[in-house]
Amino acid sequence: MDNSYNLKDVLRYTDIVEEQALVYRNIDDFILNGRTISFNQKEIVSFASCSYLGLELDPRLKTLAAEMAIRYGTAFPTSRSYYKLQILEELELLLEKMFEKPCIHTTSTSLGHIAALPVLIGKNDAIIYDHQVHNSVRNAFMICKGAGTYTEALRHNRMDLLEEKVVRLQTKYNNVWFLGDGIYSMMGDAVEAEELYRLMNKYKKFRVYLDDAHGIGWCGKNGKGYVLDKIEMHPQMVMAASLGKGFGSFGGVLVCPDAETKRLFRKLGSTLIFSTPNMPAVLGASIASARIHISNEINKLQAELKSKVDLFISEVSKYGLLKTLRIDKTDSPIFFFGVGKPETGIRSLDLIVEKGFYPSLAMHPAMPVNNTGIRVTITRTHKNEEIVQFVKAVNDSITQALVENGLSADSVVRHFDKLLGIKGATDNVDETVPENVHQ
Ligand SMILES: Cc1ncc(COP(=O)(O)O)c(C=O)c1O
Repeated sequence: MDNSYNLKDVLRYTDIVEEQALVYRNIDDFILNGRTISFNQKEIVSFASCSYLGLELDPRLKTLAAEMAIRYGTAFPTSRSYYKLQILEELELLLEKMFEKPCIHTTSTSLGHIAALPVLIGKNDAIIYDHQVHNSVRNAFMICKGAGTYTEALRHNRMDLLEEKVVRLQTKYNNVWFLGDGIYSMMGDAVEAEELYRLMNKYKKFRVYLDDAHGIGWCGKNGKGYVLDKIEMHPQMVMAASLGKGFGSFGGVLVCPDAETKRLFRKLGSTLIFSTPNMPAVLGASIASARIHISNEINKLQAELKSKVDLFISEVSKYGLLKTLRIDKTDSPIFFFGVGKPETGIRSLDLIVEKGFYPSLAMHPAMPVNNTGIRVTITRTHKNEEIVQFVKAVNDSITQALVENGLSADSVVRHFDKLLGIKGATDNVDETVPENVHQ
């Protein structure tokens, strides 16, 4: 195998973790409650689910999913370009109420990106992408790159470097696109949406495409997400989001600045023409979730989740571990403890699982090799005592793993700041993006 993006490294590390039975596991077959899973009859509290509001087990979603399956069957395998179920139209209308903009439903977020980016971005445009942008966006813009579009990476969230790139590239290209996430899926930090808005106002050729998959549901009016909570939809911007995380269902949505953009996606988006629409059960669950989102109930669900997130932060702050937490000033339910090398991450996870909890290991290729971390996702369904015990388990485990690997929390923090080019890092910051960065 020979290619630029270290497949051998990926295999080496994933093989090690699999051998230790920490990943690629089958959970025991029992009725789920949203919080716990079980390996070999041992109950484990999961901190790896992205169903932040716990809606995937809401009886209203389950019932409508079942009803739609009974009414329309398990599949609807006809291209929506020919004809479609009315419930797909109904879902889009509900999503338009939620986002207050024209919306198009996509079978998944990844397929949404593939529908949108080649329609939006031409070969005489340039792409600047945040190097932590989700892999699904990356896959989609590789289609544009294959067609001749120029691409350039921006160090993660270094908005201070963005304007110079826009100014430089706009003299040569028709449009300059920025591609990023709203809430970054690994570290749970957020894009600086206000700065993007400022740049869109300042430069007519500057355009923005954001994937707010993880920002939906828990944030903003009607759960319309982190980005649209911070800024209004701008005419030079398109947003994608997932219905498969906080929303509790499956699929994606493209939020368009205007009806014309929606028309272009509908008529030209490859996966909207050539890929199967979502199954009726999924549309049913999404409709039930969208109804909750456009009701006042969403405020209560958001507040309940926030109380869990606040508890988690206050528990973490009791330990020295706070240092290694890449904390952001959002209420995002995703947290990331940097631990440095994959070996330290694997050992930390091993110790945490032994104590009865399962956070996710954020390792290459999701992160650069030496930026491994323990990623934690909090959901509304977690019990307070579980959060308290979990934080202690994480603290004890990471502390032990660092000691065993001869590392200190300070050295990990320095390494992270340096590698990610965090402003104010004390070491010389290398402004180039590491070759092996792939997510
Ligand atoms: C930021 C982000 N975008 C897109 C996706 C992919 O979503 P989907 O499964 O709907 O394609 C994910 C999945 O983890 C994600 O984290």
